[in-house]
Amino acid sequence: CCGGTRQILLMFNVVGNRSPQLQQQLCKADRMQFWHEQSHRYHTELQDFKKLTAEAMVVLKNEHGMLIRDLEGAAVRMDRVEREIDYVETHSSPRACANKADKVVEQGSVVIFFLYFLFSLTSDCVEIISGIRSVKILKRVGSPKGMWTRDPRSSKVYVFNGTTGDRIYQFNSVRDFSHSPGVTSSTQIKVPSEWSGPGSAVYNGYLYYIKQEFGTDVQVVKYDLLSGTVIDTAMFPVDNHAAVYNLNPETVADLAADDEGLWLLYATGDSEPNISLAKMDPATLDIEQIWDTRCPRENAEAAFVVCGTVYVVYNTRLASRSRVQCIFDVNDAMINEEAPLLYFPRRYGAHASLKYNPEEKQLYGWDDGYQIIYRVTMKRKLLV
Ligand SMILES: *[C@@H]1O[C@H](CO)[C@@H](O)[C@H](O)[C@H]1NC(C)=O
Ligand SMILES: *[C@@H]1O[C@H](CO)[C@@H](O)[C@H](O)[C@H]1NC(C)=O
Repeated sequence: CCGGTRQILLMFNVVGNRSPQLQQQLCKADRMQFWHEQSHRYHTELQDFKKLTAEAMVVLKNEHGMLIRDLEGAAVRMDRVEREIDYVETHSSPRACANKADKVVEQGSVVIFFLYFLFSLTSDCVEIISGIRSVKILKRVGSPKGMWTRDPRSSKVYVFNGTTGDRIYQFNSVRDFSHSPGVTSSTQIKVPSEWSGPGSAVYNGYLYYIKQEFGTDVQVVKYDLLSGTVIDTAMFPVDNHAAVYNLNPETVADLAADDEGLWLLYATGDSEPNISLAKMDPATLDIEQIWDTRCPRENAEAAFVVCGTVYVVYNTRLASRSRVQCIFDVNDAMINEEAPLLYFPRRYGAHASLKYNPEEKQLYGWDDGYQIIYRVTMKRKLLV
């Protein structure tokens, strides 16, 4: 009966439903079916648990340092538990297995529950970028500056040539784009007002773009790509002339959209040296929260958001090697030493924009007119 993975044993335990019947079920042929049910229940319970713990979050943030220390201890214990289970699995008779493993698992369950508790406090996703695995130069379309991105939901590709305009090019897939001579096989979309800077985002069929008409405030526009209508607009009270990235002055503000919401990177004014971050409700464009990332605008060329963490990419005026040199985690869960120093592969140009796609775990870069895809490797935040 002990052939099952320890994950199954651990999951059973987290669910907290361990009866003699369960022990027997563990040994039955249909335990996979059972595991599926339990895992579903476990998921539901975890959701409820998350709701409960949201309130505790504020208090716990203050105790962050302590939590990290506890977590380190927990990780060590977790390792030990895993080793013990391995031992039990390989050295015990089938009968004794369930009971022994069960005891070990019991100790482990406290640890596991604590770890999931911690995740529920921080964010649904717990990953950070650990490296840049590969680069693919797809094609060269348009002017030196611009942006391109792929809607994670529809997988359609959108090309924004230049630094302002009222037109975007839509392709059905990355493949279609890469096979297209120029932009000829695209659908051209004309938006009702000009987009300003390579700082747009596309998510789930909606285009979010920055509008900055002469002498007016910066606005965020939500545009329905399917029906071709503006859904909503919101003013953003920022200084007109302060660009968010000092090396790309055309980027008035930079939007990013993912499962967690709509993010806006901006500069509050010329005298403010650091990049600010706002989290917006993608449905209403309401601002929910604002942070000072403490990442300087000076020598920044682009930034992107992954799992509630902002990665700011720096370069030099004479373009050299782009690197992520400042990270800001809105959940404050990243341990400083964890933050990776990421170097992009050496290129001749500089990035006009970098857009992260959470589904594919890759970055869509626009570098001196080249459209580039970087695949990134991830690791889990914290010590699990
Ligand atoms: C891109 O924009 C540049 C000007 O910024 C223009 O010369 C060029 O024709 C455009 N290319 C496409 C494919 O639209
Ligand atoms: C900007 O960030 C730096 C840390 O990188 C910090 O020391 C400084 O106080 C910040 N400046 C402002 C005006 O917030």
